Amino acid sequence: MIKGRNPLNGEVVISGAKNAVVAIIPAAIIANGVCIIDNLPAIEDVRCLQDTLIKLGAVCELIDEGTLMVDSSNLNNWNATFDSVRRIRASYYLMGALLARFKEAKVALPGGCNFGTRPIDLHLKAFRALGAVIDEDYDNGVISLKADRLVGTNIFLDTVSVGATINTMLAATLAEGVTTIENAAKEPHIVDTANFLNMMGAKIKGAGTDVIRITGVESLHGAEYMIIPDQIEAGTYMIAAAVCGGHVSVRNIIPKHMDSLSAKLKEMGCKVIEGDDYIDVISDGNLSATRVKTMAYPGFPTDLQPQMVAGLSKADGISILTETVWENRFQYIEQLRKFGCDITIDGRVATIHGVSQLHGAEVMATDLRAGAAMVIAGLSANGITKIGNVRFIDRGYEKIEYKLKALGADIKRVKE
Ligand code: EPZ
Repeated sequence: MIKGRNPLNGEVVISGAKNAVVAIIPAAIIANGVCIIDNLPAIEDVRCLQDTLIKLGAVCELIDEGTLMVDSSNLNNWNATFDSVRRIRASYYLMGALLARFKEAKVALPGGCNFGTRPIDLHLKAFRALGAVIDEDYDNGVISLKADRLVGTNIFLDTVSVGATINTMLAATLAEGVTTIENAAKEPHIVDTANFLNMMGAKIKGAGTDVIRITGVESLHGAEYMIIPDQIEAGTYMIAAAVCGGHVSVRNIIPKHMDSLSAKLKEMGCKVIEGDDYIDVISDGNLSATRVKTMAYPGFPTDLQPQMVAGLSKADGISILTETVWENRFQYIEQLRKFGCDITIDGRVATIHGVSQLHGAEVMATDLRAGAAMVIAGLSANGITKIGNVRFIDRGYEKIEYKLKALGADIKRVKE
């Protein structure tokens, strides 16, 4: 429940990156030993993966707030077909991790946010290229993979895919010889996962560029690792500050990861000041319209697209936002219209006519980032907003209502 129109002021500390941790927890399965993962965000996707690893036979427990211990030395089950696996998209990383460790895996098809077709053909193509035989049982929603040997090879990804890049790295860490991934994705969480695997003894070079080389090693050992800050959580607070007006210091981030958003916010009339590990956004709430095109990193992230659409809804003039990553990521627009947003969709292009005022609305979060967009719309709208289905938002934002309240927002969770 939000009462809108408060300016936002103060500091917000950003948590560990969801899309890094959801790859790093499964990666810990490959090690013969104990991994300690720090800067762990307290979000639903992490709890779901923790539950999954425990069910697989690993010891996986919080040893401190924000620190997870994973001991998979006694993990001896490669059958991950239970419910918690189906709940999140990133459980597809269990395929690469279990395949690396056991040369065998049975994994339920992943769930996650529903914004159109989310294929995993590139993941499977890469596993096949490494030597896996795969049975795709779509009737029962289970993928089975088995390999006598995994042997390094050249893999060209037809589409730049975060998931396929990470999954190929996972599967190739213990493969014989060298695997090369071409047209690899370059997102910060790919570099983070590669850094974690390297700390465990893997030999991965080139993560963060479009060619990654993995030289297979015999085994991986335990390691302690600190997750990078969440680029998308940081971006969400930066956009909220821009729209609501005020002075927000977004702390514990890597400012370089925010370049595409910082440039847009400046174009829209905000002052954006970068420090070593923080960005200050200063805004009077009067934004100008702009053009945005989502792209793979270092382009403008698709995971900030809904939040940006909410922001542009109050910008002066007509904005054009083109979604190039997901074919159907505008399903939430219907909900934004309830705030008075004037948005028309033509295929992958949203035309946003800025309006001077939004009004509070009763809406349902349709997925994680769409939910965040509704929070931003509610914060900047006159009157009361009620957002349902907040469990979607909890999947990726730690303590969102507390963080916003500390910045001066009038927001509360009315029912657990
Ligand atoms: C990751 O999803 C993120 N999820 C998504 O974040 C994010 O939207 C997406 O990358 C793009 O940045 C996680 O990291 C867990 P992709 P992923 O494979 O890996 C096509 C969020 O809100 N494709 O990079 O599943 C696909 O259809 C979430 O935090 C294939 O064609 O995305 C899409 O058009 C939601 N075949 C494009 O590639 C494949 O086998 C990029 O998808 C795989 C993908």
